[in-house]
Amino acid sequence: MTHRLALRADLLDFTADPGFEAVAEAAGVRFRPDHWLLVEGGRIVGAQPATASDDGPDASWRRIDHQGRLILPGFIDTHVHSPQLDVIASHGAALLDWLARYTFPAEQRYADPAVAAAGAARFVDALFAHGTTAAVVFPTVHKVSAETLFAAAQRRGMRLITGKVLMDTNAPEGLRDDVENAERDCTELIARWHGRDRLAYAVTVRFAGTSTREQLAMAGRLCASHPGVYMQTHVAENTDEVRWIAGLFPEARSYLDVYERHGLLHPRAVLAHGIWLDDRDRVLLHERGAQIAFCPSSNLFLGSGLFDWQATADAGVAVSMASDVGGGTSLSMSRTLADGYKVQSLRGLRLSAWKLLHAATRGAAQALGLAAEIGSLDAGCVADLTVWDWAVGPVAMHRDSLANSLHERVFAWMTLGDERNLVVTCVAGEPVYQRA
Ligand code: GUN
Ligand code: ZN
Repeated sequence: MTHRLALRADLLDFTADPGFEAVAEAAGVRFRPDHWLLVEGGRIVGAQPATASDDGPDASWRRIDHQGRLILPGFIDTHVHSPQLDVIASHGAALLDWLARYTFPAEQRYADPAVAAAGAARFVDALFAHGTTAAVVFPTVHKVSAETLFAAAQRRGMRLITGKVLMDTNAPEGLRDDVENAERDCTELIARWHGRDRLAYAVTVRFAGTSTREQLAMAGRLCASHPGVYMQTHVAENTDEVRWIAGLFPEARSYLDVYERHGLLHPRAVLAHGIWLDDRDRVLLHERGAQIAFCPSSNLFLGSGLFDWQATADAGVAVSMASDVGGGTSLSMSRTLADGYKVQSLRGLRLSAWKLLHAATRGAAQALGLAAEIGSLDAGCVADLTVWDWAVGPVAMHRDSLANSLHERVFAWMTLGDERNLVVTCVAGEPVYQRA
């Protein structure tokens, strides 16, 4: 008999994008207080109210009672760097200086297979310990860093999208590849990992500054010849960076246009930041079906700027949420959402908790083409889910007790909560993290 699991808690997920305005009666919000969530063979099969008169699911179900807690779909972090746990919280630099002073030296160590394997395991387990069950990840330029990350995710049954970083110029010794070897490595990695279990390959162009035109063209060829693969990169994060790229690629209309010219923009392209794009760039993103990963913690920490979510959404471009550790300072997506709220506040936009949570769950899944698998508590989805305390500590508990509406409660959870609220993380119905 297949393994049957029933989890009792308040269930919160989304059936559609709740949009920018609505707080009280937002469409697409699905809250099912005190329900049993039913999981069979690692997939969600349904839910039923846990009413007092009802004994709940029968004895064929293994029941775990989290009454009074919150169950959410596992978070999806659409842009994060596995080796940068080694440099998270490094002081005093904007992007280009930060890369040179902290990040590149740390990434050099990942040439060592033992460092890469230990780093991959540490990273994946840290995601789980923050409630993230799926991620789009940058390892390093070294083939072994992608291999070990795929292997670590595979062992844990995790949904992961990654690929060897491409960088063949403007990077220090030990962090540069070349077109021919990189193409061979990528081709081998795609053959070995793409579509295997829950893994997918992303052609990973670090950014326009660290790839030659020849390498960008090769990356475009890889996307064209392997239609299912993703592409991930950075774009228009920092004004000094934008000026530098304009000098490197004078033929391009804009930073984004560098990627367009090399065939890198398509519906599986995930571009981090996009702070300094213009309207024509946003139209182009929409035409190509490419998406933006909004990284508020990183944008604040590195002082990069305030992403224009409204203009991006108005152009019809999908926006998801991302930690961008180690530019970002936490793997916690609830902290990331709280930072997203603050960044948008500085632009005059007061986002609802619904909009933010949707962008870190179902919205991200939809943008990645994975909504049938992850991002919600729909029957049929893989049971990647998280169990949370509504409040931890005297301030949050006090605030929670005074909440007068569901949105008020969820917004306080998002703003005051973090990984200390996390009780259990499940991947395909199996616990991969449990609070001590
Ligand atoms: N641009 C190029 N590389 C990086 C990186 O590692 N982090 C961030 N935030 N931006 C980048
Ligand atoms: Zn990044």
